[in-house]
Amino acid sequence: MITFKAPSNIALVKYWGKKGEQLPANPSISFTLSHCYTETSIAYQRRSAATMATDAPFSFDFSFDGQPKPSFHPKIEAFFARIAPYLPFLTDYHFSIYSHNSFPHSSGIASSASAMAALSVCLMQVARELGYTYSEEEFWQKASFLARLGSGSACRSVKGSIVVWGQHPSIAGSSDDYGIAYPLQVAPVFAEYQDTILLIDRGQKQVSSTVGHNLMHGHPFAEARFLQANNNIDRLIGAFATGDIDTFIEVVESEALTLHAMMQTSIPYFILMRPNTLEVIQRVWQYRKDTKVPLCFTLDAGANVHLLYPKSVKNEVQTFIKNELAHFCEEGKYINDQLAN
Ligand code: DP6
Repeated sequence: MITFKAPSNIALVKYWGKKGEQLPANPSISFTLSHCYTETSIAYQRRSAATMATDAPFSFDFSFDGQPKPSFHPKIEAFFARIAPYLPFLTDYHFSIYSHNSFPHSSGIASSASAMAALSVCLMQVARELGYTYSEEEFWQKASFLARLGSGSACRSVKGSIVVWGQHPSIAGSSDDYGIAYPLQVAPVFAEYQDTILLIDRGQKQVSSTVGHNLMHGHPFAEARFLQANNNIDRLIGAFATGDIDTFIEVVESEALTLHAMMQTSIPYFILMRPNTLEVIQRVWQYRKDTKVPLCFTLDAGANVHLLYPKSVKNEVQTFIKNELAHFCEEGKYINDQLAN
């Protein structure tokens, strides 16, 4: 049995808008998390010539948390169809896929990134077992390439602590095809950077990311937004190198609000923030003003709030969260995580 644990990631500069076959409209950069992950195992056996001739092109079963989940089949089927040109053995085997998330399924935390990343790495390990040879670099690059075809942000969940996806002139080796480990200098203040995820709304998203990305086609602000993301990557490069947390905060919060502004100004428009998302944001700003503690927030495509802060202020921020923010979370729940090493 082959097993791989792929982490979740949280984007600092956001991917929102795509072109061609899952290529990003702008480069993005993310923190890889330590405690939120998907663990996937795969067993495989050769299909008989008879079933290959008569049955569906792909043969697999899938269980999640120990329970068969036929509702996930169409997603996996579509993913297999997309990556089969790059892994031709996919049609020749039956795959038993077992998956598990470290975080609750109903937490509103997007699991597609870690799930597609874990599945892609497992399939690359299958390829190796079947005799395909790859250098270490080729292996991880191709795993990220495949993950991207499952879900764009998944290509940032394969390997690395800070990951860049999308070609950017200031980052050598960056590519629209796969994520790479951030190759430039990062000041020590960002080591083990903390991410506390406030579970504001654990319900299903009303609008999928895929639909949202597509609404960037013909969006009145698209071009300016893509340019801004490129500029924000340059600003982050500077902030990472010098340990400039003020610039880091400005870029990260602006990116979060811009992402949601794009949603709110597309046609059709939609709002994924909830009243408690805004309550939390106001309180974070007030806290930062009063205490000078460099706590900031980011958002993904949902109502939950990711709180980002250096490890050195962990104690005071945890007290603040417990006393002043936890009651804005569903059932008072939040998850403490941190940047992977
Ligand atoms: C807001 O990667 O979930 O989290 O490629 O259609 O699967 P698909 O979209 P997905 O989009 C993630 C969008 C985001 C920002 C980000 O992670 O960069």
